[in-house]
Amino acid sequence: MANHSRIDSRIEGLVQPGRVHRRIYTDPAIFEIEMERLFGQSWLYVGHESQVRFPGDFFCTRLGREPVVLVRHGTGNKNGGDKNAGDINGGDKNGGDITVLYNRCGHRGAKVVATESGSVREFRCCYHGWTYATDGRLISVPVRQGYPEGTVDIADPAYGMQAVPRVASYRGFIFASLSATGPSLTDFLGHMTTSFDDLVDRAPDGEIEVAGGIARHAYRGNWKLIFENVNDGLHPLSVHLSSIEAARAQDDAVWSDGAGEIGIRQMRQNGAPLEFWDKQVGLWAYPFGHSYLGDYHDDEKLAVARQDPSFQDYIEIMEAKKGRERARQILGVTRWNTNIYPTISFMSQFRQLRVIQPVAVDRTDVLGFCFRLKGAPEKMFRDTIQFANVTNASASPVLTDDLETYDRLRGGLESGGNDWVPMSRGLGRDVADGNGGLQAENGLSELHIRNMFDSWSGYMAGT
Ligand code: FES
Ligand SMILES: [Fe+2]
Repeated sequence: MANHSRIDSRIEGLVQPGRVHRRIYTDPAIFEIEMERLFGQSWLYVGHESQVRFPGDFFCTRLGREPVVLVRHGTGNKNGGDKNAGDINGGDKNGGDITVLYNRCGHRGAKVVATESGSVREFRCCYHGWTYATDGRLISVPVRQGYPEGTVDIADPAYGMQAVPRVASYRGFIFASLSATGPSLTDFLGHMTTSFDDLVDRAPDGEIEVAGGIARHAYRGNWKLIFENVNDGLHPLSVHLSSIEAARAQDDAVWSDGAGEIGIRQMRQNGAPLEFWDKQVGLWAYPFGHSYLGDYHDDEKLAVARQDPSFQDYIEIMEAKKGRERARQILGVTRWNTNIYPTISFMSQFRQLRVIQPVAVDRTDVLGFCFRLKGAPEKMFRDTIQFANVTNASASPVLTDDLETYDRLRGGLESGGNDWVPMSRGLGRDVADGNGGLQAENGLSELHIRNMFDSWSGYMAGT
């Protein structure tokens, strides 16, 4: 406790109404406290269950800085999709036996699994060959007789790969918490479950899957910057001006297919006048630091447009499977980025998700995933990949601008010219949204940033 009170005094007063101290983005000691109190407590996104469809399938990732293995052990889930949030670690009706293991050998501590993903019957440590079942149980120890009685006991779970304390999922999206206590996943997500619904409901067969590999990038800057940026309505017209101008200059007559059209329409939409952001775009914020931007565009303005043959086929399939009214309802949702603080940002309408992984106070990794909608024309998935390439890939004309911005933010925030960072756009003009959250004055508000810092303060105070 003595140690905590010393740490508390170091964060006290750094978050104030409408502004934060720059050290929040630059101080390695604060980053360490974040890893312990925020990433060590919150629900963190692990992966999608389609990444571990069959028994033995695994996927290696990180929770905060903890290397972990998402793995399916045993007989698997026959219907292939969790329908509700639930404790899947305990083997309930949803299936299963998906678990999340610390990627650490019970012997001398080596990382056991070095491959990012694959399928195995067991995990074997490369150092001295200790072998584990896919639920983490230690099953074999070479030269077992060399360990005097009472030092290494195969049957003792303490020598296995340890499971993280809590795992739960919502509609196939798997989260874990490094803390044994805290709110349920359902309480943590709250109204944000509707963004996951928006993504999954768009699949004619009611199921989605991760496909197409992982698009990675890293940036030199604090992990919080990307969450602030993706729902910052004021930045596109400035940061992305070069791609906006290039897209405006593009001759409409040479659009060859929906894929090229997606990129051009997206970049042009980034150039929407501020009046559009003021009058038409909405921003909503919810407990635990979550937020989403809505009404940025709809399929008439962007995507593949309704004239595109594959999109037309898709609409027909949706209407046939879900009924005309329900299909119109589903496709009428126009959410842009949904942020689930502190690990993911996803675009339900565009079927992609970014996982944000802090590395150090000034270093962040980002993993991008695309989803295929089961039952939709395959061209839809190719369009999804194209959209990712145009906007979210490291060499895209859009993301490169954001990466330059993060680097400038890091460099500027490290300087001592001014200790305070204002984020008061729209302060005090939010209204209750009726779903437990706040709706901002308009899409140009910095509500989502203030909301993240409200949550940040709670985690950091240990409340
Ligand atoms: S460290 Fe894994 S078997 Fe020795
Ligand atoms: Fe941007």
